[in-house]
Amino acid sequence: MRLDPLRETLLLTLHAKALDSQSPHPILGDVHSARIAAEIDYDFARLKVKPSLVCGTALRAKKLDDAVRAFVSAHPDAVVVDLGCGLDPRALRCDPPDGVDWYDVDFPDVVALRSQFLPSQCIGADLTSSGWVASLPRDRPAMIVAEGVLPFLPGDTFQRMVQGLTAHFGAGELALNGYTRFAAWSMKYHPTIKAIGITAAQGFDDAHEPEKWRAGLTLAEEQLLTRAPEVACFPQPLRGVTRVMGWSAALSRQGTRVLRYRF
Ligand SMILES: C[S@@+](CC[C@H](N)C(=O)[O-])C[C@H]1O[C@@H](n2cnc3c(N)ncnc32)[C@H](O)[C@@H]1O
Repeated sequence: MRLDPLRETLLLTLHAKALDSQSPHPILGDVHSARIAAEIDYDFARLKVKPSLVCGTALRAKKLDDAVRAFVSAHPDAVVVDLGCGLDPRALRCDPPDGVDWYDVDFPDVVALRSQFLPSQCIGADLTSSGWVASLPRDRPAMIVAEGVLPFLPGDTFQRMVQGLTAHFGAGELALNGYTRFAAWSMKYHPTIKAIGITAAQGFDDAHEPEKWRAGLTLAEEQLLTRAPEVACFPQPLRGVTRVMGWSAALSRQGTRVLRYRF
């Protein structure tokens, strides 16, 4: 399978989730990702994925799933929008109530690829454009989830996309995994990201910064994942290093954090 670097990142998260599900102590335990990865003709070894990436990806996905599950349980008529969904089977993991409408959004060719592996309601669109938002239902509470997407949208396009979505829906939540500016800058030196060829990424330091995006967001929660109980499932020496990082909030923010906003 051949994808450009931006799209190829979806194979990285898929592979990490598949490896987690095959580990002795899975964090996410996503057997669907393992099945899809096994069906894809791609040399996953070239991604040189390390335990830190496997555990970090599985843990952030689990926390984002938890946010989605809590929202749809409180709002069984919700609309869920998974931005930059790649081949992530989040709807299968979350198993929302029947009244929920779920939309997976990614580039049109990614959505076409996705349809070969997953039965899902997709919108094929470039997230940096705006017209696609109009095809979503409105006047219903919305759960917007963006996993592994923020760094790859250039300039202020992530903010503008969020502005368009919150104006469209009026009420709901946005959940994403945050990257500090340093974490985003240093991504290009990560062996896996280097192997893919990504050269630039975006982030923000202060979890309150999105409150200034004029998208009506209020920070509801910042979870520093170095402090999550699931760190107990990390293999050594990663577990020990992560726990030491957890002593410092500033250091923990350079790792994975999951952010939840209300609008
Ligand atoms: C790191 S992958 C994450 C995939 C998935 N969310 C997951 O966690 O497994 C980033 C995804 O964002 C998508 N993406 C990046 N920029 C995009 C854009 N401008 N429009 C639509 N999708 C985009 C890529 O195609 C890819 O599927």
